[in-house]
Amino acid sequence: MGSERILVVDDEKLINWSLVEMLEDAGYLVESAACGAEARKKFSSFGPDMILLDIALPDANGMELLQEFKEQDEHVMVIMITANADLDSTVKSLKLGADEYIGKPFNLDVIEHRVRQILDKRRLKKQTTTAKRILRRSSDFDQLVGSSAKMIEVFKMTKICAESDCKTILILGESGTGKELVARAIHMHSSRAEAPFIDVNCAAIPDNLLENELFGHEKGAFTDASQREEGIFECADGGTVFLDEIGDMPLAMQTKILKVIETRRYRRVGGRANLEANVRIVTATNQDLPALVEQGLFRGDLYYRLNVMCIHLPPLRERIDCIPSLVDYFIGRLNAEYGKKVQGVEAETMAYLKQYDWPGNVRELRNTIERVMMLDPAPMLTPNFLPTEIKRPSAPLLSDSYTPADSLSAGGRNMDITLPPDGITLEEVEKMLIQQALLRYDGNQTKAATCLGMSRDTIRYRMKKFGLN
Ligand SMILES: Nc1ncnc2c1ncn2[C@@H]1O[C@H](COP(=O)(O)OP(=O)(O)OP(=O)(O)O)[C@@H](O)[C@H]1O
Ligand SMILES: [Mg+2]
Repeated sequence: MGSERILVVDDEKLINWSLVEMLEDAGYLVESAACGAEARKKFSSFGPDMILLDIALPDANGMELLQEFKEQDEHVMVIMITANADLDSTVKSLKLGADEYIGKPFNLDVIEHRVRQILDKRRLKKQTTTAKRILRRSSDFDQLVGSSAKMIEVFKMTKICAESDCKTILILGESGTGKELVARAIHMHSSRAEAPFIDVNCAAIPDNLLENELFGHEKGAFTDASQREEGIFECADGGTVFLDEIGDMPLAMQTKILKVIETRRYRRVGGRANLEANVRIVTATNQDLPALVEQGLFRGDLYYRLNVMCIHLPPLRERIDCIPSLVDYFIGRLNAEYGKKVQGVEAETMAYLKQYDWPGNVRELRNTIERVMMLDPAPMLTPNFLPTEIKRPSAPLLSDSYTPADSLSAGGRNMDITLPPDGITLEEVEKMLIQQALLRYDGNQTKAATCLGMSRDTIRYRMKKFGLN
């Protein structure tokens, strides 16, 4: 403790000085600012844990600054200080997120005491959220849930990758399909499990900083490099580096990564020593890499390198058999997290969940279950609180405006069969259903026949009759 950073913002020199003295004596790192402009500058350069903020500044309103700072860093603690300690501004500043309000003239001892209390509270809160995060993450790791044939393939590949210690792995799949979960599972089940797993989101780090982030730099490598700094490859030594959103990696960086993969060596920015890269590189993307290669946005040679060991995560709509086990799993976890006693979902709810196409995949399913659990008091979750896009009444299979094209694009997910006002022949119905079944199973006649409860010979005969190929 005591090494926390406090920024004192007050234009009255004497007050500013006495606060700084008192806080430094108490062991904090302190900087001060005499106006709004300076406060903004120091806020970014100094990165305070706490700000003592005067409301009336020559060039700014403390209330506005308070809002600004809290928006930029929700964890920063702010104590408002003012000469006119009226109730209105107290209430207003507390509403805007101030953590404390102190009127002038004040007693320095009282301030010191409050500062300590508030910082203690902040530290505790931070610790518990980190602990929670670690807990949540570790419970996420081994829990890759799934029961469909496609997911069993994924589990097999994950195991092979984990055990083989191949140096690079590529994980493909739409957003929310579990790519990060698989990357972590590979690490956790590999001989590298004791060493770090570090993930880097290539899309979130500015191009010019990525190399520095990955490889580190030597002292003097650039203006701000006042000392040598280790990069992620060095920190993850012996472990796994997860390069997420690899499709967004700039071309220049792709060249460097390819070189690391080929030579197992790299240099810090501004460095000349060749360091050994003793890490496994797991990469992931939801983009179409071959298309990016075609467009010249992704290096073909890097793609072929990465593609050697590749795990493809199918979208949730292609593994609806996984939905019941995922729902059970999420309910169990959320019950534990929120102290709830939800037992499951009603059959009708499950039917909706199974027919929706889940563009956000497993993440969207988890969020949906969480939302319904918060709103629905029933022990078996009803469809009442499902979002409308999930409950959107499925287009009647045979409605007024029915055209075969509509039905085909609906992909066979319709539940209700309604007789159109002017009727329809059963032959037409049969033809459309056979078309849909064939579409669903990529033209596999055996599967299409099974799903319609007919033999393969029957479906062949009908297809011929209806002129379907
Ligand atoms: N098979 C699964 N079993 C249990 N939870 C899963 C599964 N797949 C995904 N999840 C959960 O869904 C959420 C999204 O997963 P994850 O972050 O791994 O997806 P992603 O493919 O990396 O998505 P994005 O491309 O958006 O980064 C996480 O909360 C994860 O725990
Ligand atoms: Mg991800």
